[in-house]
Amino acid sequence: MRPLATTERPPWMVVSDLDGTILGNADATDRFRQWWYATNIPMYLVYSSGRHYASVGASIREFDLPTPDAVIADVGTDMRAFPSGIPFTEWSSRWWSNWQLDDICAVLDTQPELKPQPLECQSAFKRSYFVQNPPTDWLAKIRHRLRARRLSADLIYSSDRDLDVLPTGANKGSAAEFLAQRWGIPRSRVLVAGDSGNDVSMFVQGFRGIVVGNAQLDLDHLTGPNIYRSIRRFADGVIDGLEFWLERGPAGANAFQKPSHLQRDVASRDVSTEVH
Ligand code: GLC
Ligand code: MG
Repeated sequence: MRPLATTERPPWMVVSDLDGTILGNADATDRFRQWWYATNIPMYLVYSSGRHYASVGASIREFDLPTPDAVIADVGTDMRAFPSGIPFTEWSSRWWSNWQLDDICAVLDTQPELKPQPLECQSAFKRSYFVQNPPTDWLAKIRHRLRARRLSADLIYSSDRDLDVLPTGANKGSAAEFLAQRWGIPRSRVLVAGDSGNDVSMFVQGFRGIVVGNAQLDLDHLTGPNIYRSIRRFADGVIDGLEFWLERGPAGANAFQKPSHLQRDVASRDVSTEVH
């Protein structure tokens, strides 16, 4: 966390995806590091990734990323303090009760359009597949198959390629919400950044959102006063978005609220002209 300049207000909390967001353009990543260490605004930093904790740690070292306070890994199912690696057991232990991994594998591993991802991408609470040549309505059919066997799970499809099968309610958004509550930070002071489908849950949680300029179509449907679309790409988009929201303060998104018949204009203005 950045040093607290004042104890009167709670700090901000930044939750950012890594691949395609903080990572993807080495120069932009360098600029993010410089930006982060130059600012004196008190902020917690959290990286939230589809990858597992050790893989995120390896990237933090390889790219010399600013040290986060916590890491949300495996698409929200795992959460640990950094660098200690101590898990927030209150979070991860809640998934055991309604999660039947073996039965889920038995149903999904044999689907012809689903190819299990490599072993290192699988975890206790996340079963992931590459989706190949999917037939129409495949996602609805898979949901139906699971439901027919009374198996409860959430399905998250991203990047036209990855299907993550997760315990119901586990995702990057609910994980960020848990941390914000744990640290006593109101939603209006939680800034989230991402580029693809596994980030959607973070943008619908009432936080302030930053969609980077290189984002995938997965995020095209997101609109509204809480969404800032940067025209800048990768980590440059994150910097741009952080500056946008920090300049406006915690009331920022509410300040945009317009009568409902003007909402569409507000959303499109966010996209194109509110960029520094
Ligand atoms: C990361 C993970 C992969 C997951 C994808 C989308 O690439 O390694 O398992 O499917 O993110 O969440
Ligand atoms: Mg990403």
